[in-house]
Amino acid sequence: MTEVSVAKEEVASTGDLVVLKNVNKHFGALHVLQDIELTITRGEVVVVIGPSGSGKSTLCRTINRLETIDAGAITIDGKPLPQEGKELARLRADVGMVFQSFNLFSHKTVLENVMLGQIKVRKTEKAKAEEKARALLDRVGVGTQADKYPAQLSGGQQQRVAIARALAMDPKVMLFDEPTSALDPEMINEVLEVMQQLARDGMTMIVVTHEMGFARSAANRVVFMADGRIVEEATPDQFFSNPRSDRAKDFLSKILHH
Ligand SMILES: Nc1ncnc2c1ncn2[C@@H]1O[C@H](COP(=O)(O)OP(=O)(O)OP(=O)(O)O)[C@@H](O)[C@H]1O
Ligand SMILES: [Mg+2]
Repeated sequence: MTEVSVAKEEVASTGDLVVLKNVNKHFGALHVLQDIELTITRGEVVVVIGPSGSGKSTLCRTINRLETIDAGAITIDGKPLPQEGKELARLRADVGMVFQSFNLFSHKTVLENVMLGQIKVRKTEKAKAEEKARALLDRVGVGTQADKYPAQLSGGQQQRVAIARALAMDPKVMLFDEPTSALDPEMINEVLEVMQQLARDGMTMIVVTHEMGFARSAANRVVFMADGRIVEEATPDQFFSNPRSDRAKDFLSKILHH
């Protein structure tokens, strides 16, 4: 990926990238997303936090259409999410996603994992795809692991491969859903550092995480969800030092004091 040297403010001023308008979703009787209004500008890093079951993962999954919505609208770069077919595959490539579990193809090498989408979806020729995959693997610090299979890597290394694989598609935005919560403590930082660097390089990011240090240092905005709603939005400073809602105060007292 190219280095972006412009200040965050300038990048953000170039426009809205991900827009959710009045998004609603049910799972049966459960109203899991309620009147969600959320706009993410280019280059912005938004951290989503909230209690278990509040709808954070579902929110992420609607943005690359792993889940459909019942009402409302979602646009990426001004375009509504495609319904199906090739356009949907392209959307999934434009919206890179990194989950808690690494979801690498176990029967493919690390290098092949990072090449595959480029060849299949972006129609990149093999040599170019390999060159780019190697550069990205170097960038996330696992260049020497290229010929291994995922199971031969540590969790932190696998997660960095998953990030490289998403980046290989030149995504417009990256979604992270608790990318470090399945990792042993000593591997958390190596993944957070890659994410910090991405943020500094100007990548637009939506990050569900309990890592409040990351939220404080990398986020432009914290979005707090509870019971399927966005209850509060603020800068990390405002949110952590002066949460407005009782739900946020309660949540913060639990996670900061355990
Ligand atoms: N496929 C599904 N079918 C039915 N209910 C679901 C489904 N996926 C999620 N839910 C429910 O929707 C609610 C929101 O789930 P979601 O996974 O979005 O929460 P979350 O905020 O990500 O929680 P956590 O912090 O535990 O990951 C939960 O009550 C969950 O049980
Ligand atoms: Mg979740």
